[in-house]
Amino acid sequence: MSSHGEPKPVFARATRGLSGIATVPGDKSISHRSLILGALSIGETKITGLLEGDDVLDTGRAMQAFGAQVERKGEGEWSVHGVGVGGFREPDQVIDCGNSGTGVRLIMGAMATCDISATFTGDASLRSRPMGRITDPLELFGTRSWGRRGGKLPLTVVGAANPVPVKYTTPMPSAQVKSAVLLAALNAPGTTVVTEREATRDHTERMLAGFGATISTERTDEGNVITLTGQPELTAQTVSVPRDPSSAAFPVAAALLVEGSEITVPGVSLNPTRSGFYDTVREMGADIEFSNSREEGGEPVADLIVRFSALKGVEVPPERAASMIDEYPILTVLAANAEGKTVMRGVKELRVKESDRIDAMARGLEACGVTVEEGPDFMIVHGQGPGGVAGGATVESRLDHRIAMSFLCLSLSTRDRVTVDDGNPITTSFPDFVNLMRGLGAEIVDAVPAQA
Ligand code: S3P
Repeated sequence: MSSHGEPKPVFARATRGLSGIATVPGDKSISHRSLILGALSIGETKITGLLEGDDVLDTGRAMQAFGAQVERKGEGEWSVHGVGVGGFREPDQVIDCGNSGTGVRLIMGAMATCDISATFTGDASLRSRPMGRITDPLELFGTRSWGRRGGKLPLTVVGAANPVPVKYTTPMPSAQVKSAVLLAALNAPGTTVVTEREATRDHTERMLAGFGATISTERTDEGNVITLTGQPELTAQTVSVPRDPSSAAFPVAAALLVEGSEITVPGVSLNPTRSGFYDTVREMGADIEFSNSREEGGEPVADLIVRFSALKGVEVPPERAASMIDEYPILTVLAANAEGKTVMRGVKELRVKESDRIDAMARGLEACGVTVEEGPDFMIVHGQGPGGVAGGATVESRLDHRIAMSFLCLSLSTRDRVTVDDGNPITTSFPDFVNLMRGLGAEIVDAVPAQA
C-alpha cells in the first residue's frame, strides 16, 4: 500500500556539473513478474536485484495473500515459495495494489482462471484507471467481475472454475493487457493465442519461457502472434533483475541538461522493447556511450556514459511509442531544453497512466514558460534551447512518480527553481532517487509547503 501521508513539496538545483556513478534500481516490470511467476511455480524462486519500491512490495504482499511464501533475505534479495499454476488460494482480505497498474492488472490475470474470487483496490490514482481492458478479455476465459462504473476499482474478480483457452487481439498497445491474458491462460487447458499489432515489452514471454512454459512468438504482417500452451508445471528459477531503463532515464536526462556533467549508469537493461528513449535522445544529439554491452538475466545490458549535450528537437516516430511509453514525461523536459520543436504522436496511452501524463506535463511546462500544443493523441513541445526554460513555478505531481521526477530534473536547468507539490509518489518506483541525485551533485531540497 502506498501511504503517501502529507504532501511533501520539493525542488532541485544544480550549482555544478553532475558527476559520478548512478546505480539505478532493478527493473519494475521484471520485479513484478518475478514475484508473480515465482508464486505460480513449484519450488523456491530466488530473486536478486528486486526493486524494493512500494509498487513491487504491494505485489509481494498480494502473492502472500494468494498463498505463496514471500520472504526478504537481504537488500534486493527475495525468496518465493510458489503454489504452482492453479494453486492460488482465496485471499481473506482486499488486495490493495497501491499505485500500481502493472501489479493489479497482472495479478487479476494470474488469478482469473482459479476457482476463487478476490477484491482489488488501490490509491486514488489507481482507482481512476480503466480496468475494462483487463476484465473484458478475462471474460472470454469464463471469468466474471464487478467493479465501479466504467469497470474501475474497487473491483471483484470471480475466477473461472472451468476456464477455456482463448484467441485475443489486444485493442491497444499494452504489455499489461497482453500479460494478464497470458497469465490467465496458464491455468486454462489447451492453447491460447494473443496477437498484438504493435510490439510491447516482452518480459512476460521471456520469463514464462524461462520458468518452463511452452510459449512462442511469431512475427507476422498482423503483428506478434504469441502462442501459449496451458497448464504447464512452472519450475522455480533464480532471477537476476537487470537495472531499469525507465528509472535510468532520469539521471541520464539530468546529466544531459546540466552543463559540465558526465555520469556513468551501469548495467541498464536495453531490451529492444524498452529502449526507444535512448534512440530518441541520441537522435536529439545526446552524447551517450554504451559500453561493456553484455547479457544479464536473459536481457541485453550495457553501462551508459552520459555527458551534457545541447539537444535539438525531433519528430519521434509513432511506431516507437510502445518502446518508450514511460519515458515521454522526461522526454518532454529534454524537449523543452532543446533547440526547435519536438513532436510526439501516437501517444494516447499516456492519458491513462498513473496520471494523464500529457495534461500533467503540458500544464507544468506551461507554468514554467514553455509553449506546448496537445491533442488526444499528440504533444508538441517548443524548445527554448539549453538552459532556456524560465521555471519559477509550483507544479503538480498528481500521485505520479514519473511526473515528480521529471519536474525535479527540469528544475536542475531552469533559471528559477521548479517546485513539485508532492515528492512522495517517487517511492513507488525509485525509492533512492533523492539520494542518488544528491550523490551526483544535485541539490534536492524540501520546500516550505504553500500556506493553506
Ligand atoms: C508495464 C507496461 C506499460 C508501462 C508500465 C509497465 C508492464 O503499461 O506503462 O509502466 O510492466 O507491463 P501498459 O501495458 O498499460 O502500456
